[in-house]
Amino acid sequence: MTSGFPDSYFKRPTVARLQDHLDGGTDNYRPDRDFARGLITVAPWLPASVRVNRAHRPRVLACLARESGINQVIDLGCGLPHDDNHHLPDEVRRMVYVDSDPGVEAQARMVLAERHGTASLRADLEDMSALLAAGPIVQLDRSRPIGVLLHDVLPWIGDETASTVLAALRSWLPAGSVLSVTHATTDVDPESMTALTHLYEEAGIDFRPRSEQQIRDLLTSWAPLEAGGLRTTASWRRSTPMHPRFDHSHAYAIVASPGDRIS
Ligand SMILES: C[S@@+](CC[C@H](N)C(=O)[O-])C[C@H]1O[C@@H](n2cnc3c(N)ncnc32)[C@H](O)[C@@H]1O
Repeated sequence: MTSGFPDSYFKRPTVARLQDHLDGGTDNYRPDRDFARGLITVAPWLPASVRVNRAHRPRVLACLARESGINQVIDLGCGLPHDDNHHLPDEVRRMVYVDSDPGVEAQARMVLAERHGTASLRADLEDMSALLAAGPIVQLDRSRPIGVLLHDVLPWIGDETASTVLAALRSWLPAGSVLSVTHATTDVDPESMTALTHLYEEAGIDFRPRSEQQIRDLLTSWAPLEAGGLRTTASWRRSTPMHPRFDHSHAYAIVASPGDRIS
């Protein structure tokens, strides 16, 4: 992962590499690991929370494919490839991995794009017009529904951009499409979330966990596919939480459709 990048890229932690380290991956460097130690000190539950979020992805993909007949998916803010990326449901024929981090895009291209129908795109959610006009996105079949994953991405962008991203997706997605969101929350342990936010801020990274109400407000134009909408990620479609000692993932999950359009 080192060739073609300025040295500075490896001297500061990045969100994608931190996530990789917290999830037990090896695509990370000393600044990421050193910084992660401080994060875990103030929030010992963080690695488990990251694992719950990662485990959510294949479950959602299977639901999109089998319940909504979706065979093309955009993974926005996909993060570094992990084992689960290699196990797409057979039904998923086209997968576009999108991230603004050049290291993520390079890894995704190298590791994942070998699979037929898979593409990797470097694009920033701050510029949705450019993102939606990029080749791999334009090549998707908009006469059929599309799945969009926004897993643990909105906490890394501000309210205005998050609203713009969601509005752009809502007007661009064809009927029958489904959006899947996971989002870190301040509801369970506000003190450690505040401590995390401050640590990230010192590293120049804006982290914005939101309350359940704030997440609902962002998604107000979307129609939840399940009654009640938001669930904790660890309990999404489970009768008991996935982690025996971890009944709140410090994050919420929701799947929603663009809903009724006002034309
Ligand atoms: C915490 S990781 C989540 C990765 C993956 N979605 C998951 O659930 O495991 C957040 C990812 O969002 C990406 N990201 C953050 N801001 C972004 C933006 N403005 N545009 C595109 N990607 C962004 C980061 O580079 C990072 O890879």
